[in-house]
This record gives sequence, C-alpha cells and structure tokens, in this order.
Amino acid sequence: MKKKIAIIGGGNLGTAIAQGLIDKQYCHPSSLCVTRRKPDKLESLKSAGVTVHSDNLKAATEAGMIILAVKPYQVLDICKEIAGGINEGDKVISVATGISTASMAEALNGRGSIYRAMPNTAIAIGESMTCICGNGVANEADLEEISRLFQTVGETAIITEDLMNASTVLGACGIAYAMRFIRAASQGGIEIGFHADVAQKIAAQTVKGAADLLIKNGLHPESEIDKVTTPQGCTIAGLNEMEHQGFSSALIKGIITSYKKI
Ligand SMILES: NC(=O)c1ccc[n+]([C@@H]2O[C@H](COP(=O)([O-])OP(=O)(O)OC[C@H]3O[C@@H](n4cnc5c(N)ncnc54)[C@H](OP(=O)(O)O)[C@@H]3O)[C@@H](O)[C@H]2O)c1
Repeated sequence: MKKKIAIIGGGNLGTAIAQGLIDKQYCHPSSLCVTRRKPDKLESLKSAGVTVHSDNLKAATEAGMIILAVKPYQVLDICKEIAGGINEGDKVISVATGISTASMAEALNGRGSIYRAMPNTAIAIGESMTCICGNGVANEADLEEISRLFQTVGETAIITEDLMNASTVLGACGIAYAMRFIRAASQGGIEIGFHADVAQKIAAQTVKGAADLLIKNGLHPESEIDKVTTPQGCTIAGLNEMEHQGFSSALIKGIITSYKKI
C-alpha cells in the first residue's frame, strides 16, 4: 500500500495543509510530497524534510492520498496528467470550488476514489472549518481518514456533495461576513470613544469568545443572549434596534444572494 501524501499545488492552501500535517505530527515530513511549477518557492517545507518538486505524475504515483490544491480551472487538466499514477484505493481530494467529483472521475478515467474538501482561509492558523464529501460510492473509512487529516488544520464536517456550494458560502465566504461584522463593531466602538486599534481588539476578541462559548460549551446562541440581556437594559435595547434595522435579515439575505451567485 502506498503511504505517501502528495499535495499538488503548493500555494497558500497547499502549504498550510502541509504545515498542519507536520505540526500536528499527522505524518513524518519524509512521507509528504508537495509540487508546484516553481518548487524553489517551497524552501521552508524542503528544509523541514518534505519532498518538493514539479513532477505531478511522479508525486501522484508514489502517494496513496493526493490533494489537489490548484486553482479550479486547473483541476481537470491535473487529473488527466496524474491519471496514469492513480491505482485502486488511492484517494484524490480536490479543495477547489465548483469542480464536481463526477467531472474529476471522468478526467481520472475512473481511477481512484474521489473526494472534495472545502476549507476556509483560517486554515493558515490551523482554525479552518472544512467540509468534506465523497461521490455516491464514497467509502466511510476514507471519509473518516480525510476528516482526520483536515482536523490537523481545524474542525471538519462530512456532508453530501449537493451541499458543497452551501458549505462554500457559509464556511469560506463566512470569513468575510464575520470580518465585516468585526469591522462594523470596531467602527461603532470608535464612535463611542475607543481608538481604532483598541476597538478592533475588543471587537475581535469578543467575537472569538462568543464563538468559543458555543463551540466549547455546546450552547445555543439565544441562551447566551438571554444571559446578557437584562430587562430594560442597554443590550436588549441595542439588539432590538439592530433587528429593527434588519440585522439578522440582512445576513440571511446576503447568504442566500452569495449562494445564488456561486
Ligand atoms: N486559500 C484558501 O483558504 C482556500 C479556501 C478554500 C478553497 N481554496 C481553493 O484552493 C485552491 C488553491 O488556492 P490557493 O489560495 O492556495 O491558491 P494559490 O496560492 O494560487 O496556490 C495554487 C498553487 O498551484 C500551483 N500550481 C499551478 N499550476 C500547477 C501545476 N500545473 N502543477 C502543480 N502546481 C501548480 C501554483 O504554483 P506555481 O505557479 O509555482 O505552479 C500555486 O502555488 C483553489 O482552487 C481555491 O479555490 C482555497
């Protein structure tokens, strides 16, 4: 059985995954291979013991798990390029938006098991939310293995392929929505007296703390809101004003608009 992991496309995402695998000791650096056309840009991975070069077919041939981290328009060409190196049981995982497992299966001549993963930019700090799916014949053990791999760079959820676009909107675009919330909160903070840097620190750490209350304690947002809304107090007054101005509705409509556009 081939034990190596190949990452085809050592850009932002590919190197973040490689670094996560090394940092969390998912595998030894020597069992990792990362390719790109300009492999000299992968010097830090190389000095960590990772094999780096630009031969995608060789990398795929030696690996049992192949992660495609190139731009979406390149995925099918790369599949055709590496098809000859893919054997039964090998797993090919694309992180590109919008390229279906069916089109990859065709480009790979039906070779290997095909999966998709949708991380977000927080992968760079090991805090991604990554949604993972297979095709109709996906193997549960493979999905679990891929999930464990992406847990080195954050949290994961296994979903069906028809939800991949929705996961892109909620998880990947979601980073931008959350950033805009923090930016707007900072702007409010400046108006009520803080310097910009302090306002941003307070807004960002408050969002992080709020998210952690849900993630770590498994609570519902409304039960946490109830804890901070004193009757006739300032929190409920501000929150209700935000809702009168369409706060929740704006977010929901924005998510639906992104989804229609994708
Ligand atoms: N960044 C994220 O957080 C994120 C989140 C979700 C999904 N994605 C998806 O992940 C993919 C990669 O995104 P990215 O941000 O990492 O892009 P990126 O930084 O541009 O990385 C793409 C890499 O692919 C390499 N490449 C191009 N052609 C190649 C080829 N023929 N063989 C081998 N490598 C090749 C490029 O290096 P050379 O020019 O040296 O070849 C480049 O380093 C995209 O499909 C994107 O939609 C990214």
